[in-house]
Amino acid sequence: MGIQFDAAARTFTLSTRSTTYQMGLDHLDRLLHLYYGPAIGQGDLAAMYPPADRGFSPNHNADRERRGISPDVLPQEYTGCNTGDFRLSCLVVREENGAAGAEWRYASHSIQKGKYALTGLPAAHDEENDEAESLCIRMEDSVTGLALELLYGVFERQDIITRAARLVNGGSQTLRLEKAASMCLDLPFGRWDMIHFHGRHAMERRMERTPLMNAIQTVSSTRGASSHHHNPFVILCDRKANEEHGLCYGVMPVYSGSHRTDVEVDQNGLTRIVSGIHDERFSWQLAPGEAFTAPEVILACTENGLTALSQQYHRFIRHNVCRGEFRFARRPVLINNWEATYFDFDSDAIVRIAEKAAALGVEMLVLDDGWFGKRNDDNSGLGDWFVNEQKLPGGLSPLIERVNALGMKFGIWVEPEMVSEDSDLYRAHPDWALTLPGRAPVMSRNQMVLDMGRPDVVDYLTERLTDLLANNPIAYVKWDMNRNMTDVYSRVLPADRQGEAAHRYMLGVYKLLETLTTRFPHVLFEGCAGGGGRFDAGMLAYFTQIWCSDDTDAIERLVIQHGTSFGYPVSSMGAHVSACPNHQTGRTTPLWTRAVAAMAGTFGYELDLNKLSDEEAAQVKEQIAFFDKHYQLIQNGLYYRLTDPTEEERYAAWQFVDEEQGETLVNLVLTHPEANARPLHVWLRGLAPDALYRVESLDIHGCHAAPQAGLDLAMEGVGKVYSGSTLMRAGYTLPQLAGDYPSVQMYVKRV
Ligand code: GLA
Repeated sequence: MGIQFDAAARTFTLSTRSTTYQMGLDHLDRLLHLYYGPAIGQGDLAAMYPPADRGFSPNHNADRERRGISPDVLPQEYTGCNTGDFRLSCLVVREENGAAGAEWRYASHSIQKGKYALTGLPAAHDEENDEAESLCIRMEDSVTGLALELLYGVFERQDIITRAARLVNGGSQTLRLEKAASMCLDLPFGRWDMIHFHGRHAMERRMERTPLMNAIQTVSSTRGASSHHHNPFVILCDRKANEEHGLCYGVMPVYSGSHRTDVEVDQNGLTRIVSGIHDERFSWQLAPGEAFTAPEVILACTENGLTALSQQYHRFIRHNVCRGEFRFARRPVLINNWEATYFDFDSDAIVRIAEKAAALGVEMLVLDDGWFGKRNDDNSGLGDWFVNEQKLPGGLSPLIERVNALGMKFGIWVEPEMVSEDSDLYRAHPDWALTLPGRAPVMSRNQMVLDMGRPDVVDYLTERLTDLLANNPIAYVKWDMNRNMTDVYSRVLPADRQGEAAHRYMLGVYKLLETLTTRFPHVLFEGCAGGGGRFDAGMLAYFTQIWCSDDTDAIERLVIQHGTSFGYPVSSMGAHVSACPNHQTGRTTPLWTRAVAAMAGTFGYELDLNKLSDEEAAQVKEQIAFFDKHYQLIQNGLYYRLTDPTEEERYAAWQFVDEEQGETLVNLVLTHPEANARPLHVWLRGLAPDALYRVESLDIHGCHAAPQAGLDLAMEGVGKVYSGSTLMRAGYTLPQLAGDYPSVQMYVKRV
């Protein structure tokens, strides 16, 4: 188990509970990738790649007589540059004379207990279990003097391998990196489907699955943020893989800026994945002795289908990516005033919302955008993180006191990385914004992006936010970021280093977040970027939860949360009940169904509860009590997708099962009612087959239309006992629902 180097065979073998990862040194001391997949035993894997002379696949000079050996054909662990492998490359490095070339040779390696850390970048940790081992393989290029440190973190029980790469200039000239990927993964055999998560603002992370073409397919962002459009997470699975069966690989960069994951099927059918920082407009100057670290990537593999893969990521993100006390702590049910008031509020209006919320059991009030500077709409004020006393007379303290007096915590919204043109900050420091010389900056939401690569900007924000958090009893921060990056030009970088600006921005953001989350360990930070525009493993190292989407429509959320669930746990997905007709779609759904959808996330409210009828207010109380009762099961249980919205259009269903298989909550929302409706039959998952379970409760929500035949029949199941195998194999027919978007929750407990 763990990490082994076999000196005779010259192989490195990384073993987790159920996977094996193997690399080997060849006759020229190059590092070949030999295998990653379900656990295997011994055997010479290098024999899988017999020499074969492929036309136009060149040979190393030393192999000129052995034409069957080509870097263009062999699986590589991390490619060189311009030296015979025409497939996707990891690296472009340029010398002072303009030459671009690098060829790696093994130099040394070290194996250590514990998980490596990365300077300045978020990375998985092993604080809890003490199970990780780390491997560093050092490769060198003799001409440039560039060294490559390949880092591997092996999490045996979590079944996860992390990778990262460090490039160190050990030569005497200044080198320029024009591409520096985090990793390359060659899967030599197999035919794969690729699954990725695409979208747009307010409709993020829609799952798409397609067979790989014999070409290069790319999932990327050049927006300076991981983006609403292409989430930095890719799955390759065998063509027959489904939720329960089949070989699946996950590649998840721990990075929140412009990223790029390319997948190439080459001339031999080998599939190469290269993942890392996007190389468009990227460059990094490395003076002698300097190092560049490419972000981490989290790899997972299972032969048990997509659910197992997702659960591996869920567990790993919760235990090994997220940090601090809120990973497992009970998080407050919150009310956010954004969709209740937008910019139009004062202290009294906020307190009225808080009073009603407190009476119904909500635990925290979050004051959203508009509390600072001159901020009555989204055209001004960003950057001026001083209280707007016209709206909040006397500042934040009197308001927080009033909220706290209701027994509620207080949270606040900030958008530190941005500046409005109409702000005191911009008037004082126009050079702090990213703008191109001689051009009027591109505007988005009428705001600009601060140059977070500047230490003085990070220092300013550190001071302002420290002041805010140190002087007010603030329990929660919603950290927003509401535009993408254009005009990328930093006033503090010389001309030949402008290619560093976008990544330096991310390093500045990470530094600021590191400082603040360390300084204020008791503050719960929720990430946000116009909803899910920066929903990635990098951000989850600082934010235990991220606002999943600006689309709060319960029915659309089912699709967004379904897609998100492939890589990210329920405990990371910010989800709220909002008003109807929904502000984004105009759709009306039952209040309870909105709660059922929001309960597949961190759960909260975002509407003026004073506008609810007494009956609806009573429902809110019931919802919070229900969520409270099942909190552990929902937030810390295993998550099962029971339907795929691309296949099942009538309803969406999902299930939570606790790790001990002692209880489960099945959730179903009817999205398309039908006449003469077919039964709503679900096959439960994740139960102990031989254990007995009782259907404890069956709550039907929002079923306004006359129940059809079958309703009574299904209700008869309540109180009945079934074996786990019966519920999983024969399944269970839920009550027949009708009308607009009713839902049902079935709670089943082991007897
Ligand atoms: C973004 C967020 C919203 C809200 C607004 C405020 O769009 O995603 O939740 O905070 O900004 O301007």
